[in-house]
Amino acid sequence: MTIVSVSGVHGYDIDVSPGARHRLGDALNGASKALLIHQPVMAALATEIRESLAGTVDVLLAEVPDGEDSKRVEVAAFCWGIMGQADFTRSDAVIGLGGGAATDLAGFVAATWLRGVRFIPIPTTVLGAVDAAVGGKTAINTAEGKNLVGSFHAPSAVLVDTEILATLPDTERRAGFAEVAKAGFIADSVILEILENDTESALDPLTETGVDVLRRAIQVKANVVSEDFTEQGLREILNYGHTLGHAIEHAERYRWRHGAAISIGMIFAAELSRMTRGLTDDSVDRHRWVLGDILGLPLTYPSGRFESLLGTMRRDKKARGAALRFVLLDDIGRPTVTAVADESLLFAAYGEIAG
Ligand SMILES: NC(=O)c1ccc[n+]([C@@H]2O[C@H](COP(=O)([O-])OP(=O)(O)OC[C@H]3O[C@@H](n4cnc5c(N)ncnc54)[C@H](O)[C@@H]3O)[C@@H](O)[C@H]2O)c1
Repeated sequence: MTIVSVSGVHGYDIDVSPGARHRLGDALNGASKALLIHQPVMAALATEIRESLAGTVDVLLAEVPDGEDSKRVEVAAFCWGIMGQADFTRSDAVIGLGGGAATDLAGFVAATWLRGVRFIPIPTTVLGAVDAAVGGKTAINTAEGKNLVGSFHAPSAVLVDTEILATLPDTERRAGFAEVAKAGFIADSVILEILENDTESALDPLTETGVDVLRRAIQVKANVVSEDFTEQGLREILNYGHTLGHAIEHAERYRWRHGAAISIGMIFAAELSRMTRGLTDDSVDRHRWVLGDILGLPLTYPSGRFESLLGTMRRDKKARGAALRFVLLDDIGRPTVTAVADESLLFAAYGEIAG
């Protein structure tokens, strides 16, 4: 069993191991009921979990729509309804089983029921495991935009069962690895070495190397959120590649996998880092090697689209009332948040990724 700890007032343990789901009973200690919110693809596993806890905890199942369709207030209300009918109290719990969409919804339901009950995510995608389930950000979408309604609500434990990740389609897994690589670029270059030197095992969650690389990426996020739970400062470095990446996701009407968009965003950020922070050519090349050659993620975006992407990024800026800021790298593992006022630099960096 491998444990990564988030420290601070909102601390908890993250179990990153094959079979971690079997420790759910311990995490539910003291609860008499739990609502297990799961994606359709997890229906069989949800039933298995309910049966394994029979006689200890009364587990109610809530199957929710797949993907973003679950992050709606109507779906949250469906879950609250089940809890209300079953007289859920403060000592009961909510479990989220699925990708980031399911754990975001489940966290939101847990955060809002009786002003907050115990929440245990069991993330089943790579993105969910290394990002969404760690850090306590919960959210649903509204007609006006993604993740507009939510709260910070730390889980009481996170169970990353690497056996469950093995059934992910290849494209989904590789897209999730964009966030793993990001953790390598901003904080832990050993992640990049593992991806470079032992690619096949690194991408296979059933190998020790595969578990290790996920644990390392989770450790990076855990370290950051331990210091900055509510995104007052340090947590911003997790947005490496996300400023342009979010604008691309928006331009693509959220039909792209997040990892594909931030892959291009990281190449853009690396080029901008080369121009403004002295990041070496070798380090920029390393981005292309890891994201493109190893993970098979896109590295370019059509030329002529930058004006409109810039417009989206500027609107973001206005919303935060701050200058257009980017997470850049002085070196691998040395991120810095930098305001870039000279737009000709942004155009020049985009010129390097325009395909
Ligand atoms: N809270 C946070 O800090 C945070 C961080 C990053 C992303 N997110 C959120 O996460 C969501 C994206 O998460 P995602 O990429 O996991 O998407 P997702 O939850 O939509 O899952 C992607 C697909 O994988 C399938 N799937 C899940 N587990 C599987 C498995 N083991 N085998 C086979 N198929 C499986 C799902 O059915 C779904 O179709 C977004 O809503 C995003 O806003 C939240």
